[in-house]
Amino acid sequence: MRYILASNNKGKLKEMKAILANLGAEVISQSEAGLSIDADETGTTFEENALIKAKAACEAIREPAIADDSGLAVEALGGAPGVYSARYGGCATDEERVNLLLKNLEGEKNRRAKFVSCIACTFPNGDVITARGECEGVITLAPRGEGGFGYDPIFELLDTGKTMAELSDEEKNAVSHRGRALKIFEMKLREYNADK
Ligand code: IMP
Repeated sequence: MRYILASNNKGKLKEMKAILANLGAEVISQSEAGLSIDADETGTTFEENALIKAKAACEAIREPAIADDSGLAVEALGGAPGVYSARYGGCATDEERVNLLLKNLEGEKNRRAKFVSCIACTFPNGDVITARGECEGVITLAPRGEGGFGYDPIFELLDTGKTMAELSDEEKNAVSHRGRALKIFEMKLREYNADK
């Protein structure tokens, strides 16, 4: 079976394709499928937004579609930027968002944060599979590393002392919120297919 990845974020697409390669299914991006959907993320939770995106692609192409909604939740900021991670403060670039977050945490001792990823897969018959993954860390005082995307340079993993941006792609996928959500999703999808 073929699955459409409902995302326009190049960083996420690269990671999701690499991890979903294990499924033995064909996974193609929505642009490869000729779709240019940018669904309004009006949900207040990661789960809701992942479903909105997956449903929009599935309805448009009438094939199973997979979407991820993810973001960074910072404890001292009451869980912000959360579902607004991609548009934090109305900033236009990752660099501006990172700098705004560091400014908002200036002088703050509690720098605990977590990345969250929710995966949703919707099928043309209305069936839905969802999976959630989290990854805990702390926000650094300054960016470090060249890998990854988004907030990776300021997110230090609890047990390695490295930022996400200092990990190789494989290392990040093995521990990241998205990697964890996709592993759970992979298991649920295998069960779903076995029941068919
Ligand atoms: P959305 O899921 O497309 O709404 O966007 C999620 C946003 O959260 C991204 O644009 C990034 O700013 C941030 N984000 C999600 N996952 C990661 C990650 O693995 N590393 C760094 N930032 C991330």
